Amino acid sequence: MSTEAASASLFNINALFDNPLFAGGIGLASLGAVAAFARKGAIASLGAARRRLLVNVEISKQDPAYPWILAWLSQPRENPGFIASRLTRIHNLSVITTTASRTPGVSGPAQAHFFLQPGYGRHIVKFGSAYISVNREKHNTANMNTGEPHEILQMTTLWSHRHIFEDVFSEAHRLAAKANEGKTVVYSARGMDWVPLGDPRKKRPLASVVLDEGVKESVVADVKDFMERQQWYVDRGIPYRRGYLLFGPPGSGKTSFIQALAGELDFSVAMINLSEMGMTDDKLAYLLTKLPKRSLLLLEDADAAFVNRRQRDSDGYNGATVTFSGLLNALDGVAAGEERIAFLTTNHVDRLDPALIRPGRVDMMLRIGEATRFQAAQMWDRFYGDVDVDHSGRERFLVRLDELGLFGEGPDGKPSNRNTSTAAIQGLFLFNKNDMKGAIDMAEGLIPRKFEAGDAVPEGAIKTPA
Ligand SMILES: Nc1ncnc2c1ncn2[C@@H]1O[C@H](COP(=O)(O)OP(=O)(O)OP(=O)(O)O)[C@@H](O)[C@H]1O
Ligand SMILES: [Mg+2]
Repeated sequence: MSTEAASASLFNINALFDNPLFAGGIGLASLGAVAAFARKGAIASLGAARRRLLVNVEISKQDPAYPWILAWLSQPRENPGFIASRLTRIHNLSVITTTASRTPGVSGPAQAHFFLQPGYGRHIVKFGSAYISVNREKHNTANMNTGEPHEILQMTTLWSHRHIFEDVFSEAHRLAAKANEGKTVVYSARGMDWVPLGDPRKKRPLASVVLDEGVKESVVADVKDFMERQQWYVDRGIPYRRGYLLFGPPGSGKTSFIQALAGELDFSVAMINLSEMGMTDDKLAYLLTKLPKRSLLLLEDADAAFVNRRQRDSDGYNGATVTFSGLLNALDGVAAGEERIAFLTTNHVDRLDPALIRPGRVDMMLRIGEATRFQAAQMWDRFYGDVDVDHSGRERFLVRLDELGLFGEGPDGKPSNRNTSTAAIQGLFLFNKNDMKGAIDMAEGLIPRKFEAGDAVPEGAIKTPA
């Protein structure tokens, strides 16, 4: 009975297979399955071969090397041959435009430079004997802080050529360093990142900042000494840091000096304005953990943190949100990197707290004050030195400033209660570029524009009712 049933079912199946329509269907289906299988196998083995034969380097836009590699890719290359030149043509370009100030003597719109870079997509470049496939991709996710879309660059080459990446990166770095040669990069905080503020600026010569006798030299010597003593600090277990506080009235050259010093040391400047909106303790501490290498940290308006503390005490208002303790923590750098040279500037040294000025936070304090006779003379020489050969113009200028009582005392030696700033002197000289006499005649303009107990107002400037 059971054998019968089995044979019957077998019979049925056989009958089914005998059915030409059904058999064809099965044949097709199995062919399809085999093809799919083969395809999967091919993809898998291709993937395996790819993994074995190729190397892939991924650089994200956040990485400092990203712009260097893009610039390197845009480098013109000597044409190696017919095939290579066809293969390595870049068909997708993106443009970066920089505008420069006008060239002297040429009127019209500012100059523009267009800098072409490989656009999104795949490109092939040849480096030495190796071909590198480059894929630049924009993702549809974005950096939460800056809102910029994430971007990556993938470079792929043969496994046997993997060592060329070292050369590619060092070449790209060399190019980037060369482009910044003689320039000072100023970084500022954007969101949680340090970004270069505009294009790198031409280094400001240290000699162009005129400070009172010996001030500049003492800071420069101190910083240079510090930079040579890393091992000394390490041996004694002291954090390798040094802090400077420059204080004084506006326009005395504090910021300019730090910028020039960075140029002298071949450092960049990483600048944070403590009174800036949106600068919080957390953000400050975080930014200091990722300070760009070889940079002077510049914390402008250090008093903001103190104003903030006081205002919060009295009326709960907090405009700037960096607090006193936030600033101290940032300077102590519990979380911050080891090596650091920090400069703090303020116009209101009286608002600072002694806790800030203890060694380790601020090791050197300098007042960069009102223009002195020494500075006025030096600045004169910088502007008119080539025409005022016998220094008679300089003498007349200094005598005029004395008459105006602009060096803190009148010609009779009595305190004049009046000073001027180096920025104002620079302004006067800029206004009278080739005109010494004009500069002397207009020296009265150096009197600070504020009302000081009667004597700052030139006679006749205010008419009092009779
Ligand atoms: N001692 C100086 N030597 C040369 N230039 C100076 C000097 N002081 C000021 N200047 C010029 O004046 C301008 C303002 O200077 P700077 O920004 O350095 O002043 P500051 O002390 O940082 O002022 P603030 O306290 O307002 O920030 C710059 O263009 C700078 O070139
Ligand atoms: Mg300044």
